[in-house]
Amino acid sequence: MRVDVRQVALRPEREAELRARFESYQKSKLLGRLIGWLLEKEREGSERAARVKLFGSVPRIEGELVILDRVVDSDADALRDLIDNPRVQRYVPTYLFEKQREDVHETIRLLYGDLFSNEESLILAIRDKETGELAGLAEFYGLRDELHKVSVGYRLRECFWGRGFASEVAHLMVEYLYGKTDIEIITASVMVQNPASARVLEKAAFIRTAQGVEEDWGFDQPVIVDKFFC
Ligand SMILES: CC(C)(COP(=O)(O)OP(=O)(O)OC[C@H]1O[C@@H](n2cnc3c(N)ncnc32)[C@H](O)[C@@H]1OP(=O)(O)O)[C@@H](O)C(=O)NCCC(=O)NCCS
Repeated sequence: MRVDVRQVALRPEREAELRARFESYQKSKLLGRLIGWLLEKEREGSERAARVKLFGSVPRIEGELVILDRVVDSDADALRDLIDNPRVQRYVPTYLFEKQREDVHETIRLLYGDLFSNEESLILAIRDKETGELAGLAEFYGLRDELHKVSVGYRLRECFWGRGFASEVAHLMVEYLYGKTDIEIITASVMVQNPASARVLEKAAFIRTAQGVEEDWGFDQPVIVDKFFC
């Protein structure tokens, strides 16, 4: 004989007991979800608090092709090669720090002095991971601490162009800033005549926010740039 359970009448005290159990089950489920949510918020908060300040230290950042770390005295000749090449310099500002002094050894000595402690600019060597040779410079500059915002730039010696180095550098810089520091906005500017650099930024998930804007990069005329943010 088949029994239709919907037709089975429960004794009132049994029904009240089952109803009470069901309500208590619902409450504990809700409580469980609430506790889960609170734990998640606490974890997010402690992760945010664990992020370091940019300029707290000079980082060492390792990728597949390159390593970003301190510029050292033995990089002097490679740095001279970067500074003296007009093909490298034509699409970067005239006032870059490494061009301000005749003596490149003095430049290297000053990199992690006032420039760094005044939080003006953090310049890292881009090193060929295979050989350790200085391939270029990566720079964090224009920090706006209250906005958690910073700009990035990079330049490579000509002998290292076209090997994917800049693409990896841009990616590593973004990964470091968003993963390890309290930075929340990253910006960059590229001269409109420099599509290779724009492509590097696009590959690192930067978005073009302005096109054909005038900026003073220290040349006789303002330069025309596209602006990016990530
Ligand atoms: C611009 C520069 C950083 C590029 O470095 P790089 O290591 O050669 O770049 P990558 O090899 O990682 O990638 C370059 C990308 O641009 C592309 N590209 C190169 N020339 C291009 C051009 N004329 N138009 C469009 N895209 C171009 C490449 O095909 C590559 O994209 P892909 O990987 O999709 O093929 C380097 O040439 C440089 O240091 N130049 C002098 C200083 C400078 O301009 N710095 C940037 C200032 S904003």
